[in-house]
Amino acid sequence: MIKPHGSEVLNPLYVADDELRTKLQGEAENLPSIVISSAAAANAVMLGSGYFNPLTGFMGLQDALSIAENLHTTDDLFWPVPILNVVEDGSAIQPGTRIALKDPNVEGNPIIAVQTVEKVELATPEQMELMTTKIFGTTDEAHPGVTAFNSVGNVLISGPIEVLNFSYFATDFPATFRTAVDIRASIANNGWSKVVAFQTRNPMHRAHEELVRIAMEREGADGAVIHMLLGKLKAGDIPADVRDASIRKMVELYFPNKTVEITGYGFDMLYAGPREAVLHAIFRQNMGATHLIVGRDHAGVGDYYGSFDAQAIFHNEVPDDALEIKIFEADHTAFSTKLGKVIMMREAPEGHEPKDFVFLSGTKVREMLTAGEALPEEFARPEVAKILMDHYQSAD
Ligand code: ADX
Repeated sequence: MIKPHGSEVLNPLYVADDELRTKLQGEAENLPSIVISSAAAANAVMLGSGYFNPLTGFMGLQDALSIAENLHTTDDLFWPVPILNVVEDGSAIQPGTRIALKDPNVEGNPIIAVQTVEKVELATPEQMELMTTKIFGTTDEAHPGVTAFNSVGNVLISGPIEVLNFSYFATDFPATFRTAVDIRASIANNGWSKVVAFQTRNPMHRAHEELVRIAMEREGADGAVIHMLLGKLKAGDIPADVRDASIRKMVELYFPNKTVEITGYGFDMLYAGPREAVLHAIFRQNMGATHLIVGRDHAGVGDYYGSFDAQAIFHNEVPDDALEIKIFEADHTAFSTKLGKVIMMREAPEGHEPKDFVFLSGTKVREMLTAGEALPEEFARPEVAKILMDHYQSAD
C-alpha cells in the first residue's frame, strides 16, 4: 500500500488502547485546561485520525512561518498549511507543563486531547498577515477562511498531543466518519491497490459522479473513496447529514456494488483553494489513496482563486518527490446536450459551444430548490434532487 506522508508507518495520535486512554482521561481531569477553538479541535481530530501524519502535535511559530513562506517546516518536512492551536490569551499557560484541551463543539466542553506545551508564542500582526496572505492568497475579511484564521487570537501553543476522542464527528456521523487508520484497513480488506479519492463538501451531482467514474476508468482504479468534509462550513453550504444521504443514494443507484466507499473526515473547511488542495493530497495519501481528483475551483470560495489554481500549485510549488499520491486533474465537467452525456469540456468535439452544456451555479441551485423548482435531470439525478428538495422545503 502507498506509504504515509513523511514516515514508513502511520502514527495516529489517538490513544487507541482503552486502558491507557482511561488513565489519560483521569490524569487530564486534574490538569489546567483551556477551551480551544473549533479549528484547533478539528486539527486534533485530524491528528488523532492519522490524517496529519507524521505530525506529532501543534506547530510553533517558526514552523508556521516557514510553511507559510515555502511549504516546509524548519525540519524540512513538506507541509502546506500550519496546524495550530491558537488562543487569545496564553498568559496562564507554562511551557513544559501538560494541559487539557477542551472541545468547544460538544456540550459540556469535554476534554478532547492532552497537550505537552513546548512553547507559548505571540505572533505579531505582521506575522499573522504574512501567514494569512500566503495561505489564503488574500487578507480580505470577507473570505470565510481568513475570518476564521484571524478571529481566534494570535498566541500559538505548540507541542505534542495525545487525543482522547473524535469530537462530535464519531457520534453524529457513525456510519460515515472514518479515520485514516480505518480507511487503510478498508482498502486492504477490499484488496484494492489503485484507489481514487474524491474530496467533497457538497452533494454530488452528475458532473461529480462522472468525474469519479472517469478518474477510476482512466487510472485503472479498483475502487474509489468518497471522502466528505464533516466539519464547519460557511453559511449556505448544504449540511453534512443531507449531503451524506444524497451521496449514499447516488452511489447505491449509479455505481457497481462494492466499488465505492462513502466516508468522511472531521475538519472545518478552510476555503484555502490551492494550499488546501495540497493538504487534501497529503491526507488522502495518509488514508491510502493513490490518486486524488482535483477539478475546477477545488476548495475555493467566491472569486479568490483561478478555476485551476489548485491544480497549478502541484506543478509550480510542490517538489516532484514531495508526495507519492498522484493528482487526477479534471477539467470543468458538465452535461453536453449535443452528446447526451457528461464530459470534461476540454474533450468536447469541435463545434461545441458553452450553450451546449448545462451549467447551474451553486447559487442558482439553491434558488431553484428554495422555490420548489425541480433541478434538470441533466444536472442532478432525480433521486438526489429529491433529497435536496425535501431538505430545502422542510427548512425555515
Ligand atoms: S470542494 O471545496 O470540496 O473542493 P466541491 O465539493 O464543490 O468543493 O468539489 C469537489 C471536487 O469536485 C473538487 O475537486 C472540485 O474541483 C471538483 N468539481 C466540482 N464541480 C466540478 C465541475 N463542474 N467540473 C470539474 N470539477 C468539479
